[in-house]
Amino acid sequence: MKIKTICCIGAGYVGGPTMAVIAQKCPHIKVIVVDINESRIAAWNDNDLNKLPVFEPGLDKIVEEARGRNLFFSTNVDQAIDEADMIFISVNTPTKTYGKGKGMAADLKYIELCARQIARVAKQDKIVVEKSTLPVRTASAIKNILDHTGNGVQFQILSNPEFLAEGTAVEDLLMPDRVLIGGDTSEAGKVAIQSLVDVYANWIPKERILTTNVWSSELSKLTANAFLAQRVSSINAMSVICEKTGADIDEVSKAIGMDSRIGSKFLKASVGFGGSCFQKDILNLVYIAKSYGLNEVADYWEQVIIMNDYQKNRFSDNIITKLYNTVSGKKITFLGWAFKKDTNDTRESPAIKVADNLLSEQAHIEVYDPKVTEERIYADLEYLNTRTNEENRSLLKVQNNPYNATQNSHAIAVLTEWDEFKTFDWQKIYDNMLKPAFVFDGRGILNTAELEKIGFICYKLGSGT
Ligand code: NAD
Ligand code: UGA
Repeated sequence: MKIKTICCIGAGYVGGPTMAVIAQKCPHIKVIVVDINESRIAAWNDNDLNKLPVFEPGLDKIVEEARGRNLFFSTNVDQAIDEADMIFISVNTPTKTYGKGKGMAADLKYIELCARQIARVAKQDKIVVEKSTLPVRTASAIKNILDHTGNGVQFQILSNPEFLAEGTAVEDLLMPDRVLIGGDTSEAGKVAIQSLVDVYANWIPKERILTTNVWSSELSKLTANAFLAQRVSSINAMSVICEKTGADIDEVSKAIGMDSRIGSKFLKASVGFGGSCFQKDILNLVYIAKSYGLNEVADYWEQVIIMNDYQKNRFSDNIITKLYNTVSGKKITFLGWAFKKDTNDTRESPAIKVADNLLSEQAHIEVYDPKVTEERIYADLEYLNTRTNEENRSLLKVQNNPYNATQNSHAIAVLTEWDEFKTFDWQKIYDNMLKPAFVFDGRGILNTAELEKIGFICYKLGSGT
């Protein structure tokens, strides 16, 4: 079946960039991205490309090329469903905050709402593609809803998880390591799989398009994120041993990474992993394991999260200890708030937990992040509910200039690995800080030897030298 029109429900960090690239690479396919969030859609349609709701290097150019040609952003979900041959579901699947599985299971209410809406609107056969990350076997729930709601049309459900990382989304979408498509093994299922393969084959070499059964595809996504997060927790677990023993985590990473069986990627020690997915997907995996009575498997994966929490708390504890056991009334500058560089996304950013810990010790924090807005930072803190909004606003200030942010500070904490931090005039920063001037590099990006020459007292995560 040749796809002429695609609809994508959910214009977020995945739906927006993914569909923009499909539209750019497939000018013969009309791509409509829909969302119930009107301001998000308005931002995707904004003439000023700096106002796109998702910041990703290179995305503005792609949107500029395809938008209005074959890429459309709209709030009219029904119309887009009706028009499309293929519907991607790319809505959020956060951790449940209520009821059974609270704090662990994925909340599938948005997925179910989409399925019900598709069932209500569809008047011709459709291929429904799970783009969101979902617990294994969700496809059967979606199929059940679709098949029992009435218009008598045929649905095929495919799983096509997304592996892009934020900050490199465009690159990852243009040249993915692989595209994974899971589908039904029936004849109709094979036809559906092939029509999605044909879409990707417009720019991705065929050998990189992998097809599997639906359950393998759903589970592979959770597995990939669990393995990636586990690597970060593993290297972070070694970082504290380095600090105790005089080893250096960057040297250890390099030494083990040169073993081709281990590989060198994803071995950068840090203040902890953040992002909307690692924690939620591992918790989801833990929940699935527990629901099958596999407690040892659940405990194994849960330890990745426990280690990550430890790393965030250890970082703030260390700041307090080094600042003579009190940060009350002291000014600490945060360089970075995003969960990683080159994104404006702050979901589960380690900066939030570190700030919360320090604010509880009555520290004064000033934050500089090149892409994250002040409203976002306050919203992140407010969500924790640790103190009142007024208290958060009086204890934490947001600056749009790093030199103002560091003026009269007792200490600087690097929470995100933005490249520009390396190019700052560190002598100027030092001159304007209170002495002794401390730097706590939670990302291992600064040249601490140089900073020490200037006069800074440095803590480099994972270095005991
Ligand atoms: P997001 O929160 O940025 O976007 C989701 C969008 O869906 C929101 O704009 C929301 O308004 C919209 N939405 C929710 N219910 C809707 C409905 N019924 N109708 C129309 N719109 C609706 O989320 P995201 O980061 O794009 O993630 C989406 C999914 O992709 C999640 O399952 C996530 O795990 C997965 N994923 C995310 C990433 C990533 O880097 N962020 C990478 C791979 C996979
Ligand atoms: C991650 C995966 O890399 C993607 O493949 C996946 O599609 C996505 O999750 C998802 O499902 O949402 P993302 O969270 O955007 O992508 O970013 P990563 O580059 O994986 O970084 C995650 C966190 O780990 C960041 O806080 C990063 O700073 C941290 N990290 C990463 C480290 O601390 N050390 C490393 O070596 C690598």
